[in-house]
Amino acid sequence: MDDLKSKYLGQIADAADEAALETIRVAAVGKKGEVSLKMRELGKMTPEERQVAGPALNALKDEINSALAAKKVALGDAALDERLRTEWLDVTLPGRPRRQGTVHPVSQVTEELTAIFAEMGFSVAEGPRIDTDWYNFDALNIPGHHPARAEMDTFYMHRAAGDNRPPHVLRTHTSPVQIRSMEKMGAPLRIICPGGVYRADYDQTHTPMFHQVEGLAVDKDISMANLKWVLEEFFAAFFEIDGIKTRFRASHFPFTEPSAEVDIQCSWEGGQLKIGEGDGWLEVLGSGMVHPKVLAAGGIDPEQWQGFAFGMGIDRIAMLKYGIPDLRAFFDSDLRWLRHYGFAGLDVPTLHGGLSR
Ligand code: PHE
Repeated sequence: MDDLKSKYLGQIADAADEAALETIRVAAVGKKGEVSLKMRELGKMTPEERQVAGPALNALKDEINSALAAKKVALGDAALDERLRTEWLDVTLPGRPRRQGTVHPVSQVTEELTAIFAEMGFSVAEGPRIDTDWYNFDALNIPGHHPARAEMDTFYMHRAAGDNRPPHVLRTHTSPVQIRSMEKMGAPLRIICPGGVYRADYDQTHTPMFHQVEGLAVDKDISMANLKWVLEEFFAAFFEIDGIKTRFRASHFPFTEPSAEVDIQCSWEGGQLKIGEGDGWLEVLGSGMVHPKVLAAGGIDPEQWQGFAFGMGIDRIAMLKYGIPDLRAFFDSDLRWLRHYGFAGLDVPTLHGGLSR
């Protein structure tokens, strides 16, 4: 019995894994195992022999079973230790920069101008890109026969014969949001509306979809002087050039009276465009005092309230600020272009944190 004991305890101690342990168990204490067979021999013994051999065999069986159980736990612990050693993960390592996206210049500039106008008390308004021709034209004092409708190269939505709903267009400018904001908020109000607009036009400086930001301020005692100050503040902050010069040229829009187009100072020396220096001028927006008929269309009494409005090309000022020569590239989705002109996703522009880095 001492031989059996040292044989099996030795094998158990040397077992490399659970499968080996199971083989040992079957050989020792399984139904036909060596210890079990010995126990069957108890019946052939004399009562005296049995009294000695019985308890000794039982004790041996117990000892082997508990050695098997202890070894099983030890093997499990070792297996877990081994897994922990080989499968560790350093969570303090930085993420892999593969497939890192960038922010499109139009989105970047939209964030920048929103931060600047928010600082001056303008909130962001939105309107639909598909709008009725009433919002896009009539309410803005552009009646059906007005040449401005043709000038804007409008995309009209198809209507089946017999469909009597009002005609819808892809909005040709963000100005319909003036009307929607006046209806919704009443006076006084101060909003900007950045967003996409559509015109059937395509060359180096025109794409069928582009972006504008509308501005509208309605209050008592609003004048062109307020408009001029707001725009000059904006350009100084946006181009990060103090005292950048602007030029207001008398112009005409059906929805403003008087109207002005605004240019910013630039130079073209050596074929290179530089903003804020030299004696050249670059047109960047249309503006004026909101026409009384437009205030009335928005449900605001023109006897009591005045306002100024402006509409500026976002893609245009993005090209100027970041030196991007071709507007069409904005919408090509060329990854090399996006990586070159894109911005880091986590640098949100603020006036105190810096607009662009
Ligand atoms: N909506 C005009 C355009 O698209 C710009 C504009 C807006 C002019 C507001 C005056 C006032 O050209």
